Amino acid sequence: MTFKEEIQQGIPTELPSPKQYDSLINHAPKRKDILSVDEKKLALRNALRYFDVKHHATLLPEFKNELETNGRIYMYRLRPDYKMYARPISEYPGKCEQAKAIQLMIQNNLDYAVAQHPQELITYGGNGAVFQNWAQYLLTMKYLSQMTEEQTLVMYSGHPQGLFPSHKDAPRVVVTNGMMIPNYSKQDDWEKFNALGVTQYGQMTAGSYMYIGPQGIVHGTTITLLNGFRKINKATKGGLFVTSGLGGMSGAQPKAGNIAGCVTVCAEVNKKATETRHSQGWVDEVISDLDELSSRVKEAIANKKTVSIAYDGNVVDVWEKFDKDNVYIDLGSDQTSLHNPWAGGYYPVGLTYVESNEMMVSNPEAFKAEVQKSLVRQAEAINKHTAKGTYFFDYGNAFLLEASRAGADVLDTKNPMREFRYPSYVQDIMGPMCFDYGFGPFRWVCTSGNPEDLQKTDKIACEVLEEMKKTSPPEIQQQMTDNIQWIKGAQENKLVVGSQARILYADAEGRMKIATAFNDAISKGKIGLVVLGRDHHDVSGTDSPYRETSNIYDGSQFTADMAIQNVIGDSFRGATWVSIHNGGGVGWGEVINGGFGMVIDGSKDAQRRLESMLYWDVNNGIARRSWARNNEAVFAIKRAMKKNPMLQVTLPNFVDDELINKM
Ligand SMILES: NC(=O)c1ccc[n+]([C@@H]2O[C@H](COP(=O)([O-])OP(=O)(O)OC[C@H]3O[C@@H](n4cnc5c(N)ncnc54)[C@H](O)[C@@H]3O)[C@@H](O)[C@H]2O)c1
Repeated sequence: MTFKEEIQQGIPTELPSPKQYDSLINHAPKRKDILSVDEKKLALRNALRYFDVKHHATLLPEFKNELETNGRIYMYRLRPDYKMYARPISEYPGKCEQAKAIQLMIQNNLDYAVAQHPQELITYGGNGAVFQNWAQYLLTMKYLSQMTEEQTLVMYSGHPQGLFPSHKDAPRVVVTNGMMIPNYSKQDDWEKFNALGVTQYGQMTAGSYMYIGPQGIVHGTTITLLNGFRKINKATKGGLFVTSGLGGMSGAQPKAGNIAGCVTVCAEVNKKATETRHSQGWVDEVISDLDELSSRVKEAIANKKTVSIAYDGNVVDVWEKFDKDNVYIDLGSDQTSLHNPWAGGYYPVGLTYVESNEMMVSNPEAFKAEVQKSLVRQAEAINKHTAKGTYFFDYGNAFLLEASRAGADVLDTKNPMREFRYPSYVQDIMGPMCFDYGFGPFRWVCTSGNPEDLQKTDKIACEVLEEMKKTSPPEIQQQMTDNIQWIKGAQENKLVVGSQARILYADAEGRMKIATAFNDAISKGKIGLVVLGRDHHDVSGTDSPYRETSNIYDGSQFTADMAIQNVIGDSFRGATWVSIHNGGGVGWGEVINGGFGMVIDGSKDAQRRLESMLYWDVNNGIARRSWARNNEAVFAIKRAMKKNPMLQVTLPNFVDDELINKM
């Protein structure tokens, strides 16, 4: 059977042979055994409904075993034998280019070189799922290969509900992930309902088919580090950044540190994750001994070297060792997966990786206590460093939130506007310097799969930004300079893992102008079709009080209107697919985030759609940030209104502090 035929067949009528467990691959940890006996029966019934009754007797013991062994039913037997990667768009079966492009994006999210636990359909973040099981994958790919431009595929948390009649201008796919009745949105609700097979944690770009490997985050991390060092008036050369995690997103940190030019120390407990990033060239050196680490770092700082070092062990040990050895840390952060603290997101100090994995299943309560003890110890060590001058920021992984819940001394008792004694990277850096001006992680994928196309698009984007910079106001000159530098170095920095993709922070005008220039190049036959998109972690896409909207202080940081409005607005302005998720980044119940994908094909129709949608997609968030009285956003939205009289945004009046304080 050819690749196209395999996709078109969906779930095979005759069952393939069972698959051997592949121990060379990074697998998801065993999930919590949370279901009652009756609920386990329900989970099995739910799983079997994808199959003809004639297969039930064969599959039942197998799925029961998966549920008992993994805490989930992944349906490993259904995993396809073909290689999983983003093929050139022409290799996908289908009746419309849009649906073929989505197949490409899905396969990229499951590529073994890209995904964290590919056989469990997890792209990143420990639990960021594209699908809950392989039957959903097969069925979805089949629907995409059949759909026309008069249909929309409806996705409920990885489950393809089916193709519904719609129209050419409608999104081809509408994705919802983890949307719960609000009272059922606690961590254990995810464990239970995910185990039942009725919902999933889509993270941000995992369940929305918009992950582009770690480069997606390298750019944002580079910007954060550059601006972080600017904030403390320290040159990156000779500066030290200490953090943790070499996983899906966190693995970008050492690479970003190298691009910024500092010394980076990144601790990681999972040897496989360290090996992956080291073999990919994303981290320069691996050190397993704390004394050796300490002297290597001192030497690198003294010689102003640009080097990234993975510490093969627990990050708590690094914070404590550097305090003891008086290694001065300029910038500090943490990127363990604390949005998922009890199920493999955070490994407590004092236990080995294997011991932790066992304990989180055999004795979850004791494991939880170990995690909390470790967080308190980590915060204590961090506090000692910040007392000496280290600038510590929360990296959007819920570190401060979970540390505070564990009883660590991280609360801000002095400033009523801030909950924690350390800012999040959005409060101090990303929010006021990027999001409020409309700058965010715009990205594109060249569907031809040809690296030359990517090179051409890089050149086009660079020319657009250089032209724009000539007339940009002083307020955004630094952003323009950083982004031009980024795109100029993009090829040399060898950022591509998986599809031919590029990320480039840009504002509304930049995104529209770059997309227009791409559409023009496609119409002239210079490049193939392009998918436009962005991370959900953006100006307008995400409502998350401890991350993306943590620099909103009018109380509305606990509302989710912006993300919902955004995805609805995108869907009727021309997006090819839209997605809205609960969870992602900081945890289930803690954030609502959405995004889009848009296929442009060089047509006038694509031009109309990109102008309409990209404009809304950014300005929605700026308007909300402006209403929250963020000065940078007020500036940006006034500028946008001046340029387009059709835009009329309600502006805030600023109240005199003295008047309020007299009350
Ligand atoms: N700041 C951002 O822009 C941003 C973007 C995306 C994600 N995040 C957040 O960062 C976190 C990490 O994301 P990810 O995709 O890399 O997750 P991940 O699970 O792939 O990686 C986290 C890594 O941390 C390691 N780890 C856990 N505890 C450790 C410890 N005590 N010491 C050393 N290593 C430890 C794990 O082994 C794992 O490899 C998530 O919570 C995510 O939501 C932040």
